[in-house]
Amino acid sequence: MKVDLYERIWMIGTGAMLTLFFSVIAYEAVAMGRMPPSHIETIDPKKVLSDDRFNPQGVRVGSDGAVHAHVVGLMFTWLPGELTLPAGTPVTFHLSSIDVTHGYQIVRTNAQTMVIPGYVSQFTSTFDAGEYLIVCNEYCGVGHHTMFAKLHVVPADQWQAPAAGGMTPAPRPADTTGASHDH
Ligand code: CUA
Repeated sequence: MKVDLYERIWMIGTGAMLTLFFSVIAYEAVAMGRMPPSHIETIDPKKVLSDDRFNPQGVRVGSDGAVHAHVVGLMFTWLPGELTLPAGTPVTFHLSSIDVTHGYQIVRTNAQTMVIPGYVSQFTSTFDAGEYLIVCNEYCGVGHHTMFAKLHVVPADQWQAPAAGGMTPAPRPADTTGASHDH
């Protein structure tokens, strides 16, 4: 069969691109644990802060010993602003927003999801010990670039699990009313 030179170039080029793109997706899925979200759970965005899935925010340990992190996004912060988690342990994150869509990304890990008002996003990830920056990667307003949090991952035997049935206290936003309780 005679194929025109230019047609041959386009066929080979297109085939090479498809092969490259598929290889990248396959590599990320297998070697880096990347996957599309598959969890659908709804919530009233006006009631997130009083819902017991997010009140209080922070780390919880289930009766089966599984570690969960409950995080709320709002313009322009993550609650809690700091998380401490055990290394080498699968942690399931539950996230929701009380206002607009945010993007939760733990930099240098495969932990990333959109955080959409009305929905509870969920993913499970395992971390190496270290300090990680958490950013918002979805443009959400004028303070978008200031929306960040910190993740501390400590060796599992040094990690302090929250008391049974309880939760680690979640840092609250600083009191900006100006009232001082010192005197
Ligand atoms: Cu929240 Cu960008």
